[in-house]
Order: sequence, then structure tokens, then C-alpha cells
Amino acid sequence: MLIIRSVKQLVKAIDRLKKEKKRIGFVPTMGFLHEGHLSLVRRARKENGCVVVSIFVNPIQFGPTEDFARYPRSISRDRQMLEKEHADILFLPEVNEIYPKGFNRYVQPGLLAKGLCGRKRPGHFRGVTTVVNRLFELVRPDRAYFGKKDYQQAKVIEAMVKRLGVKVKICLCELIRDFDGVAISSRNQYLSPEERIRAKALYQSLKKARRLIQSGIKDISHIRSELEAFLKAHVDQIDYVEIVNSENLKPLKRISGRVLVAIACFVGRTRLIDNRVIKG
Ligand code: PAF
Repeated sequence: MLIIRSVKQLVKAIDRLKKEKKRIGFVPTMGFLHEGHLSLVRRARKENGCVVVSIFVNPIQFGPTEDFARYPRSISRDRQMLEKEHADILFLPEVNEIYPKGFNRYVQPGLLAKGLCGRKRPGHFRGVTTVVNRLFELVRPDRAYFGKKDYQQAKVIEAMVKRLGVKVKICLCELIRDFDGVAISSRNQYLSPEERIRAKALYQSLKKARRLIQSGIKDISHIRSELEAFLKAHVDQIDYVEIVNSENLKPLKRISGRVLVAIACFVGRTRLIDNRVIKG
């Protein structure tokens, strides 16, 4: 696996791959890799001649009181994991490579970023679309892989690509859960053993949502109150419980078609998100 730290070296390597007519599969990450990331890398490996993975903890997608400084980092472990998965290139840029002096090409995230995490984390999705667009310009991938764990992020990126006319296929991959149902996330490592047990409530509340919806209940405020009452008994703070249209992410009053049930909660100091698409 080739490790590249500078934009200059990366552009050269990508030029070479393009000349060789290799299809490039790209997995952008912030590192501290886990099974969720590896599932994206494996799919990219199957579907492309060359797999590029980036690890970059993007400062501009974190709010001033969020966990940028303590975000887990473990490059040597990540590197070993990627070598096992036969990734071809690991792009490991410093902040000044991604955002050189005078950088001002920020990308607005669009309407899909208005609700859910967008409302709770102002500026977050602008940071995501800006970095992902910048990485797409550098890596020039044919396909890029994102997990449904960050469902809103994936939808925001799909819409961005369409709006800007970027020629890349966005591949959405299934959310990966741990043995206890908790959605796998780099942030799970912040949880104490006691918090980890309480974190299961997010997944359990999504199962409850499915049962309620499939029993024919249509009134969303009723379903939300049931989920909130359940979550309150386990988590320290509910950031949001929302049920929205699964495509345009608009709030709904009644269940109709495929809905996204999306949850964000604090367990201890750790903010966890989870979601499930349910057919009404
Ligand atoms: O999902 C992530 O890890 C990040 O938001 C991403 C897409 C790598 C952009 O920094």
C-alpha cells in the first residue's frame, strides 16, 4: 500500500492510474477504523481496480465545543488494517494540504442539511461537503463509498454531487452493528462499560419504532413520544428523535411510505446517532 501525504504526490499517482484506465474506488474516513469502514473498503475492493482510502480528521466539520481535539487517532493500527484489506493508496494529508493558505472554496450543503444533525450541529455539513468535494477533486474517484450510519451525510453528499455535476457514483453501504446491536462508530470507544450497556437503547428504540409502525400506528407525534419515553430511561440527554421522509428528509405528521427514524442522544459525554428506514 502506497502512503501519500502531499497533494502533489497524490495528483501524480492518480494521473498514473487514470492513464492505466484503472477504476478508482474511494473511501474517505477520519481514521480510527472499524468494521464499518472496512465493509466500505471491502466493497470498494470488489468493485474497482484501485482502492484509495483517506484519513483526515477534518477540523471544519467540528463545532467549537465538539471533540475535534480528542477525536481518536491511531494511524499505525489503521495502516495495518488497510494493508490486510489490500487497499492500494492511503492518503494521509495534513490540514495545510487540504486547506492551503487562502482556501475559500467552501461548498454549501443544501436543503437536506437543514434538519436532524444539521440543526443541532450548525456548520457541520458545510464542513463535510467542503472536505468531500475537495477530496473528490484530488482523488477523482469513479465510485465513493459512504455508510448509512451517517444517513443524512450520505444524502447530503449525493445531492451535492448532483448539484455540482461531479462525475462520481455515490455508493451507500449498510450500517454495521456490533454484537449487542450498537451501531459501530469510532466514538463508541469513549463509552465506559456502563455507558456502553445504556447505548443499546438507541438500537432498541429503533426496533420499537418498527414494531409501532408495523402495527399500523400512523401518528408520528405518538410514536415519537413513545420512543422519547423509552430513551429517557437509559440515555443522559436526547438530542433529537425525528421521523422524516427517507428521501427528502422533510418532517412528516403521519407515517407514509418509507420513513427514516433518526436518533441522536448523549450517553455520558458521548453523542451517538443511529437510524433505520422503515416502510409504513
Ligand atoms: O463520515 C466521516 O468520517 C466524515 O464525515 C467524512 C465523510 C470522512 C468527511 O470528513
